[in-house]
Amino acid sequence: MNKNFYITTPIYYPSAKPHMGHAYSSIIADFFARFKRIDGFNVHFLTGTDEHGLKIQRSAEKKNIEPLLFCDEISETFRNLSSKLNLTNTDFIRTTEDRHKKSVQHLWSELEKSGDIYLSKYSGWYSVSDEAYYNEDEIEELDGEKIAKSSKSKVEWIEEESFFFKLSKWQNSLLDYYEKNPNFISPESRKNEVISFVKSGLKDLSVSRKSFSWGIKVPNNNEHIIYVWLDALTNYISALNYPDKNNDLYKEFWPATIHLIGKDILRFHAIYWPAFLMAANLPLPKKVYGHGWILSDNVKMSKSKGNILDPLEIIDNYGLDPLRYYLIKEVSFGNDGNISQERLEDCINSDLANNYGNLCQRVTAFASKNCDEKIPQDIEFIKDDKNILENYEKNLQTIREKIDNQDINFYINFIVNCLFDANKYFNDQEPWKKKDDKKRLNTIVYTTLEIVRKITYLLYPIIPSSSLKALEIFNLKESDINLSSISNHIYLKQGNKLNKVGILFKKIEKEND
Ligand code: ME8
Ligand code: MG
Repeated sequence: MNKNFYITTPIYYPSAKPHMGHAYSSIIADFFARFKRIDGFNVHFLTGTDEHGLKIQRSAEKKNIEPLLFCDEISETFRNLSSKLNLTNTDFIRTTEDRHKKSVQHLWSELEKSGDIYLSKYSGWYSVSDEAYYNEDEIEELDGEKIAKSSKSKVEWIEEESFFFKLSKWQNSLLDYYEKNPNFISPESRKNEVISFVKSGLKDLSVSRKSFSWGIKVPNNNEHIIYVWLDALTNYISALNYPDKNNDLYKEFWPATIHLIGKDILRFHAIYWPAFLMAANLPLPKKVYGHGWILSDNVKMSKSKGNILDPLEIIDNYGLDPLRYYLIKEVSFGNDGNISQERLEDCINSDLANNYGNLCQRVTAFASKNCDEKIPQDIEFIKDDKNILENYEKNLQTIREKIDNQDINFYINFIVNCLFDANKYFNDQEPWKKKDDKKRLNTIVYTTLEIVRKITYLLYPIIPSSSLKALEIFNLKESDINLSSISNHIYLKQGNKLNKVGILFKKIEKEND
């Protein structure tokens, strides 16, 4: 079995500081990366910033600074966000780096060699905010202004000499590929949009600009720069040192396992990118997953609407793990999801503080009083214990399959149910009434501790630092976490010392309480 796993986030535009939508994609990618890592995979996890094009050039002009200096500054805030979010990305790419430029120019020459590039003249609608071309039927008018129907961003008419990529030539190969690889575009609900767009007829794509200069030069040409999306998409292989196909990174990780993106940029990833790769005779990524949007007050967060939730502010107020947990649980993955502070607080109080934190606290406090602060020895499982323990091994394979289908909703529901069952088990078994039956008391405590360990392993990809704190109870470290071991019911060494840990999650006092 191939044990390499390569996951990417979009590379974000450093035109303004990062917001919750960016944090969301990155947190989800980190969740998958961590999950696969504890399941024994060799994980490469890439994120970064997309720094060329008119959007960035204009943002820099507005601030009256050189585009590169402008990017240096904002790209740094994205890099800082990665560490604030506790991401385990193994690389961070900037498209202004030399390694990337070389790669993009090489890919361009490959497209030229294959006869997919020609010079002509573009005239049509362009949105600088989306860095995208739109057909006439994709445009509408709002308050006398032309906007793109899908993104609602302003479009402008452009007419200029441009190189074109023969996208139309790849129409049938793309449709064929979608059919033979039914999971290539996920979730299922988004696949049809893409297929019908392709079936409606692909026009050749303008892939160079000459009316501005902030971009990567077309090789052997002084006037044209490469279209920012052709430039940006290449990041996924430039970070693997393409065109050097013999280096370990490329050999291990291309084709990517999954490009995780928002649905706003599905067309670029599911149509243009595979067409470029086919033309260059390179393998295609295995999957493109377009998740939904984070909404605030039920509309997409955007700078122009002024409804941006700042992830850093939320983290300062509530902590990182509650935010990670909340986004993963409350936004039904794949769909749009509204977020609110109110619901975040409910999540912290009920799931994290009550159901999880309290369980850890209760069982360790009970064990330190009644089991000599040790993992109990002398135990004998009965049916009740076996039932609850076996639930984990029974579901292990399903969990893996669900995660490979990006079914985060299954995963989180499984955990929530496990927490419910664990609390119920401890209550129903009433170990405090078993002081005369030491063996039974020991077994209940041991079983509950085992369950806490298993749940904590499962929670690790979601709330990594809190999980590690909880594992201190057992003197377990990050490198000990191994998904397979949730099938083992006697993993905890009997007689080992138990540590007390502080409160994992503080309850939020709510105004109306
Ligand atoms: O499109 N909800 O960059 P970008 C959920 N540079 N996710 C959101 C979101 C929201 N409200 N807003 C943004 C670009 N995102 C290009 C990508 S890739 C080769 C080039 C996330 O800064 C989501 O992943 O506009 C979306 O696709 C991405 O940020 C767009 O970020
Ligand atoms: Mg955008």
